[in-house]
Amino acid sequence: MSAVVSDRVLAATASMAAVQDFYFNSRYAERRGQPGVCDFTFGNPQEVPLPGLVRALQAHAVPQNNSWFAYKTSEDEPRAFLADALSRELGLAFEPEDIALTPGAFGAIALAFRMLLSPGDAVLIPLPGWFCYGSMLAAEGMEAVQVPLVPGSFDLDLDAIDAAIGPNTRIVVVNTPHNPTGRIYPRAQLEALAELLERASARIGRRLFLLSDEPYRRIRFDGMPFVSPAAVYPWTLIDYSYGKVLLAPGQRIGYLALSPLMPREDRQALRDAFFGAQVSLGWSFPNALMQYALPDLESLSLDMAALTGRRDRMVGALRQWGYEVLQPEGTFYLFARAPGGDGSRFFNALADRDVFVMPGSVLQTPEYFRVCLTATDAMVERALPVFGDVAAGLAAA
Ligand SMILES: Cc1ncc(COP(=O)(O)O)c(C=O)c1O
Repeated sequence: MSAVVSDRVLAATASMAAVQDFYFNSRYAERRGQPGVCDFTFGNPQEVPLPGLVRALQAHAVPQNNSWFAYKTSEDEPRAFLADALSRELGLAFEPEDIALTPGAFGAIALAFRMLLSPGDAVLIPLPGWFCYGSMLAAEGMEAVQVPLVPGSFDLDLDAIDAAIGPNTRIVVVNTPHNPTGRIYPRAQLEALAELLERASARIGRRLFLLSDEPYRRIRFDGMPFVSPAAVYPWTLIDYSYGKVLLAPGQRIGYLALSPLMPREDRQALRDAFFGAQVSLGWSFPNALMQYALPDLESLSLDMAALTGRRDRMVGALRQWGYEVLQPEGTFYLFARAPGGDGSRFFNALADRDVFVMPGSVLQTPEYFRVCLTATDAMVERALPVFGDVAAGLAAA
């Protein structure tokens, strides 16, 4: 008798097994949300929502006409607003038709995969990297090829990317600023990648696309500049989400944007594909309310000064206790090596004292761990001595 659940969902579930297990069945799952727990795991808000976000949602919840809550596609007003805002931010001339509004970056990534991939196609994804590309590809019957970043610096490894490109490769995913390392790739590295993709496209006889996964684009420290791959490689699609900068990932809005440098014919073909692809994904458009609110959301941000303070406090303290920590340039994550090299032992030693980090095993880098800085200052202060004790304990063991 055949299984109830489809093969592709079984494959997607297998790809997410470590995350699912951590979220639902781990020591973290048992303790999540309990008083006294210091939660540095997922990128969720732990303080009151931004007042500007609440005001925008309240204001636009009041209907102004009979079709206020009618079906919405990518509506003209937010699209025009975004084309203008994005053009100014990235220095590229986006037109409203280049932008598909989606339920967050998730929806935009799914849309890019749906529009560009045919059965048997392969996508290169970074290692370490966000843990959901693989399951989304498995559900589409596509191959995810993990390409390691340069060990230590976590720069793009151009030789590894070049070597991984085969006749079935269609998309290379670049995530900048990068989850979990916080790296922001400089222009020179992206230009070298663009040249490589140009050469490799000629070699394999088909056009390679670049998916620039940029949901943390606004979350940068120390005035770090940001260059979108869309400015250096014409066949780039950008995915973005407001969920990170607003710290409200449960209110879903984002977009997929085509690089204006893309040749007209290809750009038009993708513009024409947006609607059909989004319908086929299950009417994958943001809710009406989020579309109305979008212009009010554009200038809002989580508290970067507080986030910077937390980053500096944690990087300083962890280094003092001998941790090997990468100083993040963007995102709200810290990536560090587990003292003693045994990530699971380290995780358990912290968990014994109600401090929870994202274990490296979930990110397929078992000797590392990730700290999410959306925790409160009080959690940071309570947890720091625990990080100190655990490092000392593991060194003595
Ligand atoms: C690298 C990366 N891409 C995409 C997403 C999806 O973002 P959203 O849930 O806002 O759609 C995330 C969320 O964690 C992420 O870290």
